[in-house]
Amino acid sequence: DWTMKAFREEAIERIRAQVGSGRVICGLSGGVDSAVAAVLIHEAIGDQLTCVFVDHGLLRMGEAGQVVTLFRDHYNIPLVHVQAQDLFIGALEGVSDPEVKRKTIGRLFIEVFDEEAKKIGGADFLAQGTLYPDVIESVSFTGGPSVTIKSHHNVGGLPERMKMKLVEPLRELFKDEVRVLGRELGLPDAFVGRHPFPGPGLAIRVPGEITREKLEILRKADAIYLEEIRNAGLYDEIWQAFAVLLPVKTVGVMGDARTYDHVCALRAVTSIDGMTADFYPFDMKFLGRVATRIINEVKGINRVTYDITSKPPGTIEWE
Ligand code: XMP
Repeated sequence: DWTMKAFREEAIERIRAQVGSGRVICGLSGGVDSAVAAVLIHEAIGDQLTCVFVDHGLLRMGEAGQVVTLFRDHYNIPLVHVQAQDLFIGALEGVSDPEVKRKTIGRLFIEVFDEEAKKIGGADFLAQGTLYPDVIESVSFTGGPSVTIKSHHNVGGLPERMKMKLVEPLRELFKDEVRVLGRELGLPDAFVGRHPFPGPGLAIRVPGEITREKLEILRKADAIYLEEIRNAGLYDEIWQAFAVLLPVKTVGVMGDARTYDHVCALRAVTSIDGMTADFYPFDMKFLGRVATRIINEVKGINRVTYDITSKPPGTIEWE
C-alpha cells in the first residue's frame, strides 16, 4: 500500500525528530493500536524504546500470554511484563461509577509507567497507540457543546505531575488504516485482525462494582462466545464482540433446582471506525447455542440476553 508506505516513512522521521536521543516507554494493551505503535517506534529508535505490558487483572482469558509471545518471540522487542493485578483490583474495590473506574485505571497506568521508567534510569517520553476517534470522542462532538462521552484512559487528562511527554504516532489514523499499517510492518494477520479491546479492559464490562469472582465468571462466558464466533467463521465480519456481566440476578431452574444467578449480555457490532455501529444480526440458532453453552458451562450465570442497540444511541461498550 503506497499511502501507508509513505506514512510509515514520515512517521519514523517524525518520531526521530521528536525523541532525539531520549528514552521512550511504550504501554502495550494487548490490542492492535499499541502493538502497531510499538513496532513503528522500535523501527524508528531501536533500543531507546522499552515496552511495558501491564497486567491489571482485567484482561481476557489467555491474553497476557499472547502479547508476551508476540513481542518477545516474534519481534524480539524487549518487554517488561508488570504484574499489577492487586494494585488495580484493590483500587477499584467499592468503585461503581464508570468515569471513576476509568480515571482510577488511567491514574494507575501512569503510576506504573512512572515506576518502570525509574527502573530503567528514567524515560523522557510515554508512547501510546491513540487513534483519531479516541481523540475526538474524549474531547467533544465537533461543533456541539463540549461533552465528554467517556474518558479514554489513554487520551488527555494525564496527571500534570507526569514528567514524560507523549509520543502518539497514530493520532491521525482510523482503525482500518492502523490495520493496513500493521500488515505493512509485518504483524501477523491474526494479530492485526483482532477485535479492539479497551484499555480499561473487563472493568467496563462488569457494570457496577467489580470483584475477582465476577471477572472470572465473565472471562469464561466471553471465551465461549468468542470460540463459537470463530467456529462459525464470523470473527472477521464483526468489528467487536464480547460478553458483559450484569449486576442483576434473576431466578432460573436447572435440573429440578432453583437458581439465582447473574445475567450475561452478549454484544456484537459491525462498524468502520467505532464512531457509529450496528448490532450484528446473528442467526437465532447461533445465539441459542451460545446461550446454552454459557449457562451449562459457566457457574454463576443462568440467563443470557443479546444487545440489539446500535451506536448511537448506545455506545459499543456498556460503560
Ligand atoms: P464506545 O464504547 O465509546 O467505544 O462506543 C468505541 C471504541 O473504543 C473502545 N474503547 C476504548 N479503547 N481505551 C481504549 O483504548 C478506552 O478507554 C476505551 N473505551 C472504549 C471500544 O472498545 C470501542 O472499540
